[in-house]
Amino acid sequence: TTTKAYENIQVEVLQDNVGLIRLHRPKALNALSDALFADLIHAAKEFEQNDAIGCMVVTGSTKAFAAGADISEMKDRTFDHTYSKNMFSEWADITKLGKPIIAAVNGFCLGGGCELAMMCDFILAGDKAKFGQPEINLGIIPGAGGTQRLTRAIGKSKAMYLCLTGEMIDAETAYQNGLVAKIFPADDLVDEAVKVAHTIAGKGRMSVMMAKEAVNASQEISLQEGLRLERRFFQSLFATHDQKEGMKAFLEKRTPAFTNK
Ligand code: CAA
Repeated sequence: TTTKAYENIQVEVLQDNVGLIRLHRPKALNALSDALFADLIHAAKEFEQNDAIGCMVVTGSTKAFAAGADISEMKDRTFDHTYSKNMFSEWADITKLGKPIIAAVNGFCLGGGCELAMMCDFILAGDKAKFGQPEINLGIIPGAGGTQRLTRAIGKSKAMYLCLTGEMIDAETAYQNGLVAKIFPADDLVDEAVKVAHTIAGKGRMSVMMAKEAVNASQEISLQEGLRLERRFFQSLFATHDQKEGMKAFLEKRTPAFTNK
């Protein structure tokens, strides 16, 4: 249960174990103002602390996941302000969650919106979604991971092209290039994302969290270090009841009843 009333997002628990966060600033295509992002982080941290929640989904509207950082809020900012406040560094809190968070993207997913989606563990897209890093059109560059995560997701040449031209790509292109895990018809996207989240939330919590941490580590550390981390996580799961239950259930030809212990 959430304790806070939010101005810029809507928060729901669905299917008992999925935390859904809807970005909700319809007048500005969900532009990511400081206040919106603070709401988002607050809600995600509440779901992280809530034992009933096994997976989160962040989505926007049919028209826009988010059209970027809020340009009206940024336009008069100075270098000393952005530097001394380390602008957008706080957004990275999204990447520190232990539980999985899925971006369900319909409509525009641009600039900081695309960067937020890439901070999530994977992206599910509606078939009319549009992705891009249009910052170059504003005389700036991506500031929340666009030059780094997009490059890791789709490769240098294509990421460079998008960052230098500001062009958008559609859902199908994003899927074919590995930015998006799966595409659904736009109208079904949120329901489908919640279904996926519910499936994940039904697995053993510790194996889910370790799988997430290990895959994310692959983006940061060497192969040898990554393999070592994976092997240690793998071995440590043999200390859990869920490993015993998962294997016993398989051999007894029944569905495992995981208890997150
Ligand atoms: N910030 C603030 N307001 C925004 C916004 C943004 N990023 N994106 C859209 N809006 C506002 C518009 O100003 C407009 O407001 P009004 O109705 O008050 O005029 C409203 O949302 C609807 O937008 P449009 O009329 O432009 O809608 P459209 O359908 O004609 O175009 C769009 C849609 C192509 C997405 C266009 O809105 C657009 O180009 N938006 C800006 C995209 C962008 O440049 N994003 C990068 C921001 S910088 C950044 O994100 C930095 C970073 O790396 C963190």
